[in-house]
Amino acid sequence: MTERAETTTCPAATFDDLLALRPDVVRCPYSAYAAQRDSEPVTHNEQLGAWVVTRHEDVLDVLRDATRFSNRMASGPSSVSSIAQQILQNDEIPERTRRQAARRIELSKSRVLLFSDPPLHKRQRSLVNAAFTPRRVAELDGAVKELTNQLIDNFASDGPTDIVAAFSMPIPMTVIATLLGVPPSHMATFKDWSNAFTRGVGALSHDIDAIIEIFDQVDAFYDYFTEELDHRREHPVDDLLSDLLAARLDGEAPLTLPELLQMLVQFLVAGNETTTNLLTSAVWTLAKDPQLQNTLRQDPSKLTNFLDEVLRLEPPVQGIWRVAVDDVEIGGTHVPADGLIYLVTGSANRDPEVYTQPDDLDLDESRPRHLTFGRGEHSCLGMNLAKMESKAALTVLLERCHDIALADPGQDVTFHRSFVLHGIESLPLTMSTTSD
Ligand code: HEM
Repeated sequence: MTERAETTTCPAATFDDLLALRPDVVRCPYSAYAAQRDSEPVTHNEQLGAWVVTRHEDVLDVLRDATRFSNRMASGPSSVSSIAQQILQNDEIPERTRRQAARRIELSKSRVLLFSDPPLHKRQRSLVNAAFTPRRVAELDGAVKELTNQLIDNFASDGPTDIVAAFSMPIPMTVIATLLGVPPSHMATFKDWSNAFTRGVGALSHDIDAIIEIFDQVDAFYDYFTEELDHRREHPVDDLLSDLLAARLDGEAPLTLPELLQMLVQFLVAGNETTTNLLTSAVWTLAKDPQLQNTLRQDPSKLTNFLDEVLRLEPPVQGIWRVAVDDVEIGGTHVPADGLIYLVTGSANRDPEVYTQPDDLDLDESRPRHLTFGRGEHSCLGMNLAKMESKAALTVLLERCHDIALADPGQDVTFHRSFVLHGIESLPLTMSTTSD
């Protein structure tokens, strides 16, 4: 079964329009990608200060080579961490914020998972794989279904429901908080922390008041988990934090406190926003297509392919950063040593060299695997968790909610202002809901 996706309505635009965060291009960047893929598949973008790679083959080659391509700038050119450096030198910024920035810089000196390279990365990944077990993921399936049922019970009965606030946001947040042992009473604070870490991603400039707030939240996160880790060290329980503290490789030292804190940040950031955006894009796709809702309701076994197609067509993370270790060729183009590289997975996933009818959502055909979770040594640690969560949540949603539709079909959907993280801010929907 083939459904046409959004691309036909993507505006004709350039990559620079996307970097300027033009709302219609942020919403639908795929024509801009296609134009660049056709004309300059590997090219240096001045504004970004990076080499932009858009063909599937080239993106995959780089992802598979963790030796020649480093992850040392994995959050891109203008992350909050790099802004922390500027804050330190700015006397107009309150002393407290500068102290917080210094703490962040200090912690980020220990390179962890997403930001580390072999051989350190291999050691960390083995330690974390031992704690992040398939058992731990599988155990959460029932809890996600139960939570989804509770959330649907609270959907508005007399008007539209914003599916982001009522469904897509609380599910991943609760799952990751449960994994990290955060009690329900801390949930709102936990979400604020998560927002603080993602606010800086994928924008090339930042407002100073926002930065001050971000650093307050980030600091509170570090304080909270330093205490929690201290407590688990004395009183271990059956949870991820205790397992991370206990994780050892033969003859090697345990993870240090900075390493542990940086890991927890990555679980929080990677585990929340991305999965929220996947869930919203999935429901958005369904809301625009009643036939698709029926197909999936009648044959839930197609849900896995559906989610993979949503991941391919609307990746919550549109691109991945690398740095060239030495002079190197990518797709025949010379990239100098230390060159920052932006691998546009959102473009690679629609490369016609690899996918037939690349802009169509295809439930039946077994598509070549998309690059939305990356590939190679750094491929997403939480992939199975994200897939389990979204499948469980959508199964319940489709069972209990019928005639899912956009509350105002004429209204444009607004996306977060980022060229990297791709997600809808709010999505008011109407539907009829059956009881559990
Ligand atoms: C739809 C949801 C998700 C998407 C699209 C996504 C995407 C990605 C991508 C593209 C990477 C590779 C980055 C690179 O190669 O530099 C990655 C890595 C990672 N992801 Fe996810 N992710 C998702 C969910 C999660 C969840 C739920 C977690 C929970 C813990 C998680 C934790 C991580 C971590 C720790 C890494 C770093 C792995 C490493 O460098 O070894 N992700 N993710």
